[in-house]
Amino acid sequence: MNRPSTIWESTDSKLLDWLIPFSLRRDPKIIIDPCFGRGRFWKGSRYLPILIKSDLNPFNSGVVKADFRCLPIKSNSIDVCVFDPPHISESGKYSLISNACGFGDHGEENISDLFEPFLKEAKRVLVDNGVILAKVADQIHRGSFQIQHVDFINECRKQNLQVCTVIIKTRKNSIMGLWKQVLHPRSFNCYWIVVRKGKC
Ligand SMILES: C[S@@+](CC[C@H](N)C(=O)[O-])C[C@H]1O[C@@H](n2cnc3c(N)ncnc32)[C@H](O)[C@@H]1O
Repeated sequence: MNRPSTIWESTDSKLLDWLIPFSLRRDPKIIIDPCFGRGRFWKGSRYLPILIKSDLNPFNSGVVKADFRCLPIKSNSIDVCVFDPPHISESGKYSLISNACGFGDHGEENISDLFEPFLKEAKRVLVDNGVILAKVADQIHRGSFQIQHVDFINECRKQNLQVCTVIIKTRKNSIMGLWKQVLHPRSFNCYWIVVRKGKC
């Protein structure tokens, strides 16, 4: 196998296809996606037969209703937990994007308060040497840069979870705001962070 790059320019589903066995270092027996949403990551995936799909607000039947801070899953039973939380904070009561994306109940300025309870729960359900594959984006909230991927990494360290690698995922388009004054550049990347319950 070629050594993969830390820059990823293709889709999330293609990334997961190689990143799951690569980071776990074996084929998984069971995977959970507790932020399943509309399941974009798993369209045509060979992992569908071993995937537990859950979400706080399921969009489809076959998706278990569950909070990723308290999963109805046995301890030490999951090989891989794929985490794609809401990436944007509050955006107004009548925001269309907020309704469509299921932002959940996190802080106003950033989503970082979700990381501690998620990581504790993921650590509980993962087998030893199991991995979390987390997609985390930074954001600008009311003019202030929220470095959420750093908050995530710091929280992993607090929870004694090993951060194994960070992959930068690029994209061609980015959400356009109607800025009166431009204070920050537009972001064309997010991060896939690989975290192990055990040593790398
Ligand atoms: C960025 S979207 C995930 C999109 C998904 N990866 C897809 O391919 O469609 C975030 C998802 O997290 C869910 N969510 C928000 N807070 C949650 C929580 N506390 N527990 C579980 N799911 C949550 C939302 O309902 C939403 O579906």
